[in-house]
Amino acid sequence: MQRSIIAGVGMYVPENIFTNKDMTKLMDTSDAWIQERTGIKERRFAHRTNETTATMGIEAAKIAMERAGVTAQDIDFIIFATLSPDYYFPGCGVLVQRALKMKEIGALDVRNQCSGFVYALSVGDQFIRSGMYKNILIIGSEKHSFILDFNTRSRNISVIFGDGAGAVVLQPTEDKNRGILSTHLHSDGNDAEILAAYNPGSHSNYWQKNLADYDDAEIGELYESHAMIDKQQNLPVMDGPAVFKKAVVKFPEVIMEALNKNGYSSSDLSLLIPHQANLRISQYVQQKLKLNDEQVFNNIQKYGNTTAASVPIALCEAWQQGKIKENDLVCLAAFGSGFTWASALMKW
Ligand code: ACO
Repeated sequence: MQRSIIAGVGMYVPENIFTNKDMTKLMDTSDAWIQERTGIKERRFAHRTNETTATMGIEAAKIAMERAGVTAQDIDFIIFATLSPDYYFPGCGVLVQRALKMKEIGALDVRNQCSGFVYALSVGDQFIRSGMYKNILIIGSEKHSFILDFNTRSRNISVIFGDGAGAVVLQPTEDKNRGILSTHLHSDGNDAEILAAYNPGSHSNYWQKNLADYDDAEIGELYESHAMIDKQQNLPVMDGPAVFKKAVVKFPEVIMEALNKNGYSSSDLSLLIPHQANLRISQYVQQKLKLNDEQVFNNIQKYGNTTAASVPIALCEAWQQGKIKENDLVCLAAFGSGFTWASALMKW
């Protein structure tokens, strides 16, 4: 079976820099609070009308394809990971296929939030290993700024997230010493509701009676209703401390799972690229795995948490800065809403 290799990586972030100071103009927060709790100094926000999740993904994809030495016509499968799609349906994959005038190839959308890109990479890896496809375009992109609430009531969430996109082209490699060694996917739905956006949705309070404050008359129109907006129940929710506690357990676990599976220890890692959830989470993971500063890449300070885009953006920046060289042992790892978590270990 042939391994797959990341043949090209690209990223795109909007021009508009939104600092913590800018955030203080919208809500009761401070630069000190945000930096101390999350490490974030600034994030990018997309243009309100000229940039979408799909268009940002397309820009990142163009760079990844150029670096991989392929054209849009060469791509034979698209996987698009996002939680902020242009349309509720269809997904962003077909918008990429249309915009880049690709052949009538398959387009798959992944709804796995922060772990979406690593899940997508794992799916792509299986298609390459099986010999089904030769050039797979994998995109992670988010336009969070459109679905966040910039009032004080949502400040624990809104200060964390930013917009942007990253993309890779996955290809088979003849080189037996390189490529994706293994991927590891996990989920635990017990806490599905603690980091979520319930509405609009079809749940009608089925899973938890207290999810929405609706009376019986309103329940019928729960999918999307005036009551939902009036009661502010269309906004994302997050129990930050609970997410933090689970993340600091599952990140190290899934990284060690990948290393152990391939006979490595954490000291062998050239670079860990964790999902940029929160700098404090990355620092905790670094400490737990006894990694030095050179072994962990963080750029959340500049971009905030870009969910499905964070891993490919960080991967791209690390590569552009010369921090990833051929034959390096690189681990991508992510944890997020669901909960879902995942890792991918590769020889670059
Ligand atoms: N500015 C100022 N004060 C704030 C803000 C803000 N932006 N947000 C919350 N606070 C206040 C709260 O109101 C609370 O005040 P109180 O004590 O008077 O009630 C106080 O700060 C502490 O609130 P907590 O939510 O307990 O704050 P915590 O120290 O846990 O930090 C944070 C919040 C940063 C969200 C933290 O819990 C965290 O990092 N959790 C992990 C979640 C995460 O990383 N999510 C990213 C998305 S998920 C993912 O990518 C894995």
